[in-house]
Amino acid sequence: MKKVNALFIFGMCIAASCAPKIKNDISEEPIITMSPEVNAGQSIYNNQCTKCHKAKPVKNFSEEEWGTILPEMSKLAELNSEDFSNVKAYVEWMLQN
Ligand code: HEC
Repeated sequence: MKKVNALFIFGMCIAASCAPKIKNDISEEPIITMSPEVNAGQSIYNNQCTKCHKAKPVKNFSEEEWGTILPEMSKLAELNSEDFSNVKAYVEWMLQN
């Protein structure tokens, strides 16, 4: 059920193109400090995403690659939809900063 939810939400995300929207927000008003979502995402990244391998440097992968990697890895890490969107916010933040 968790997996189905994560997939569904990711699908909705693509459908609503939420990634470009977030990008626009950031480009209009450069964010130097981390939002609470980004902050939460960072700690999930450093804890949940390091169970099977060391934390992968975010910038080693393009935004496009992350679009495939993140949903897969979130399933492996069994993230709920909130954690998934926080990690997504963190990855996007890292790619822009
Ligand atoms: C259940 C184990 C597991 C968990 C948890 C996990 N991963 Fe992975 N991950 C793997 C395996 C296995 C690979 C492939 C081998 C490798 O690159 O180390 C991989 C590879 C990757 C890669 C490289 C992909 C590529 O194409 O080279 C990235 C980036 C990544 N994981 C990010 C994450 C993130 C972010 C999380 C947390 C949401 C996460 N992983 C959680 C098992 C896991």
